[in-house]
Amino acid sequence: MSSEKHILITGGAGFIGSHVVREFSIKYPNYKITNLDKLTYAGNLENLVDVEAGDNYSFVKGDIVDEAFVDELFTKSDFDAVIHLAAESHVDRSITNPNEFVETNIVGTLNLLNAAKNTWGENTDGKLFYHISTDEVYGSLGETGYFVETTPYDPRSPYSASKAASDHLVRAYFHTYNLPIVISNCSNNYGSHQFPEKLIPLVINNIKHNKEIPVYGKGENVRDWLFVQDHATAIDIIFHEGKLGETYNIGGSNEWKNIDLIHLLCKIMDSKLKRAEGESEKLISFVKDRAGHDMRYAIDSSKLQNELGWKPSLQFEEGLTKTIDWYLANEAWMDNVTSGDYQKYYENQYDK
Ligand code: NAD
Ligand code: DAU
Repeated sequence: MSSEKHILITGGAGFIGSHVVREFSIKYPNYKITNLDKLTYAGNLENLVDVEAGDNYSFVKGDIVDEAFVDELFTKSDFDAVIHLAAESHVDRSITNPNEFVETNIVGTLNLLNAAKNTWGENTDGKLFYHISTDEVYGSLGETGYFVETTPYDPRSPYSASKAASDHLVRAYFHTYNLPIVISNCSNNYGSHQFPEKLIPLVINNIKHNKEIPVYGKGENVRDWLFVQDHATAIDIIFHEGKLGETYNIGGSNEWKNIDLIHLLCKIMDSKLKRAEGESEKLISFVKDRAGHDMRYAIDSSKLQNELGWKPSLQFEEGLTKTIDWYLANEAWMDNVTSGDYQKYYENQYDK
């Protein structure tokens, strides 16, 4: 049985964070899990209803940008480890409002690093600061090639620039202060509980409501999709087996042009909703491209696969079907997150 540990998971009420909280709190009953989340528009405690009754789980509402709050939480909590997911995560929002991304993703990360460094001091045996990052820090690929852990950073959106800055700070704390850290950079995740500003849940929701499916540009940009549970499993393995100071790339080896993915979603949705074949495709609408739209992301995860033995578990069509089934079975979740502010965001983003 795993030894006792007190782990701070930041951003645990968000999409990936909620899957990580679930993975750790159920699989490791000996670990005490504290979930720190500001509950922005993207954070939702409904994502955690099945774990919140557990004795080893607790929630703290707070902002990682608030330095005094973060320091006090660390001083009174005796954390052994941090798994840091809290972030502003949507590229389109970073284009309209970059400042929040700098605050949360850079200053917030710095506050957590300082608090960990100051409370752990010299005695860092068994301690770990695990920073969750993105493949977008590596920039944009052409038709060939893959991102490896040594690919030079070349972020091109305010979101990816802020994540790149946070990665650099985390590495700097390893080299300068011997803070025990590990970083992983993952490709696009999909699955249950993802906020419908992101492509896959947005398309599912729009098809369901017979709304247009907005495709940026010609739909030729390529993303490498990974089922969120496979990301959570990779985080579990890296947390326990990863080498200090190292970076691990995580990806699905599952590249799709956006337009091909949308056709596949339309096909599965037609069958689930018992619509005539080809019905949902009529909703496809090509709209203005995203500014600075990265053309292609593709991850080489062979380091993680060869050194730590991780591999993705699901075929894409199976994962997508599970995902669609979840959104169709959880209408109340979708209705809650798409009411209010989401409507305003949607109008600004798409009805220009
Ligand atoms: P998300 O937007 O769904 O969730 C982010 C969470 O962080 C929310 O619960 C939000 O309330 C919380 N948060 C935001 N600002 C905060 C603050 N100032 N203080 C405390 N909490 C705050 O994001 P996600 O898609 O689950 O991504 C989680 C992490 O994984 C991010 O760091 C992201 O960069 C990274 N990542 C995401 C993907 C992806 O495909 N979604 C891929 C690779 C890496
Ligand atoms: O690669 C990892 C990253 O993946 C994460 O770090 C980010 O947090 C996450 O949001 C995601 O970024 P993307 O920009 O790739 O994801 P998004 O779902 O916003 O878009 C996927 C692709 O679909 C992208 O090429 C833009 C396109 N798109 C997106 C939306 C929302 C559309 O064509 N239409 C849309 O309405």
